[in-house]
Amino acid sequence: MIRPRERLIVVSNRLPYVFARAEGGWRTSPGSGGLVSALVPVLRNRGGTWVGWPGTAHVGPDLEEAVRAAGAEAGFALKGVALDETDVERFYHGFSNEVIWPLFHDLQSRCNFDPAYWQAYKRVNQTFARVVAAEAEARDFVWVHDYHLMNVAHELRALGSRARAGFFLHIPFPPPDIYLALPWRQVLLQALLHFDLVGFQTARDRRNFLQCLRLLPEEIEVQGKGNVVTVAAGARTLRVGHFPISIDYNHYMRQAATAQVAARAAELHKLLPRRKLILGIDRLDYTKGIPQRLLAFRNTLERYPELRERISLIQVVVPSRVDIRDYGELRTRIEHLVGAINGAYVQPGGWVPVWYVYGSLTRTDLLAYYRAADIALVTPLKDGMNLVAKEYCACSIEEDCVLILSEFAGAAAQLGRSALLVNPHDIEGVADTIHRAFHMDRAERQARMRRMRRSIREYDIFWWVDAFLKAAIAKDLAAFPAPAGEGESLVPDYVPI
Ligand code: UDP
Ligand code: G6P
Repeated sequence: MIRPRERLIVVSNRLPYVFARAEGGWRTSPGSGGLVSALVPVLRNRGGTWVGWPGTAHVGPDLEEAVRAAGAEAGFALKGVALDETDVERFYHGFSNEVIWPLFHDLQSRCNFDPAYWQAYKRVNQTFARVVAAEAEARDFVWVHDYHLMNVAHELRALGSRARAGFFLHIPFPPPDIYLALPWRQVLLQALLHFDLVGFQTARDRRNFLQCLRLLPEEIEVQGKGNVVTVAAGARTLRVGHFPISIDYNHYMRQAATAQVAARAAELHKLLPRRKLILGIDRLDYTKGIPQRLLAFRNTLERYPELRERISLIQVVVPSRVDIRDYGELRTRIEHLVGAINGAYVQPGGWVPVWYVYGSLTRTDLLAYYRAADIALVTPLKDGMNLVAKEYCACSIEEDCVLILSEFAGAAAQLGRSALLVNPHDIEGVADTIHRAFHMDRAERQARMRRMRRSIREYDIFWWVDAFLKAAIAKDLAAFPAPAGEGESLVPDYVPI
């Protein structure tokens, strides 16, 4: 485990706050997405330094001061990495979000393999490594997060840094037949081998990665059977494991139980009376399957007319990556579908089928939506984990509700036995599952929700951070927490047929 004098240095593309110019200074707002939600409680709990981009192409001493002040308020140190407009365009929008993001979510046709993007990716990873090398001493532990920064350990070693370095991928890792399309497939894998530990969300992601390693000219030898294995790859030896990320369960549960949240949840039921509320909350992203979900909801209303006026879908879309064309087009498509469904079924002065929110929620509203919803519809086409599913369960303190969950979310590996699993592409299948959830009796709802909540409580974000750091540092992997069964996951993996 990390000892007192060893510092944790978290490195991710984004800092937990986004800084934007405002009159006479900087406006700070919380970053969105699962990575930020998961890591804030970790840093608050352990302390350490978070290195990342402040979310703006403007730089200067006043920004540095704003970053430092935001860190002081958050309770841990923040260190900004400046990206100029070309970096934002080619590294962030380009290589990260037009190459790796779609490819790793199995959406090859959306990739734009522009060679200039790769040059920018290498350059920016080197910039991050320089900032980290200046910050980290040999005894510190550098923990790099997500697909934007896969080259950082390689660059750190080139700079002579001896600090131990781990990497966690928050998104899925694709199977070899998809990964092979990447023009830089070999050099990117080789860069990852410079970390001491590489972690994935699920056993499937880890297996895909290990299979891709076989594409390299290096001789690859894998030792061990548990959640963490040792990989010898040419001259390098590293550990590779899977660690399903989670949430600060107790914090969500406690906050959801406050009078303020309860009052807001009651207000929602009053505004949308005599019906069951179905909830979708997603960043604006084509991986989230929002249009398919809307089509499934419309199909429910078509095929089960008795549910009209008895269900409403609350769909929250949190703005994300709005400068990328595919994201702008997706917003238009979603809003067109919402309009079409409401236009076809609305009862003037009464029932509105889809309650659509485009924007970031306040904390109270987020928790109130979770608490008020009778059914959560979490149907990504592909997702590393999906923390919305876990947050929903944690906030369901009456345990009287249903989670409908995509088979293709990482969370299905853990929650697949108690959630209602669906194939998000199967419009009628999802509609039938909404119908089933609507009619599910109370005893079954509670039994399923109780099991999921127990699992999320046991394997919470603090379990995750401990499991990762132990796997990175333990001298002997035999000392690493024994898996539930040989070769099985600590958190049981659900394998759809
Ligand atoms: N979230 C947010 N702002 C909002 C609504 C939700 O930041 O207005 C959070 C939500 O609580 C969750 C995260 O965004 O922690 C979404 O994480 P998830 O893993 O579901 O998907 P990701 O956005 O990382 O792909
Ligand atoms: C996902 C990624 C994160 C990313 C987040 C928000 O959760 O795994 O790395 O920070 O989306 O996306 P953004 O592009 O706004 O950082």
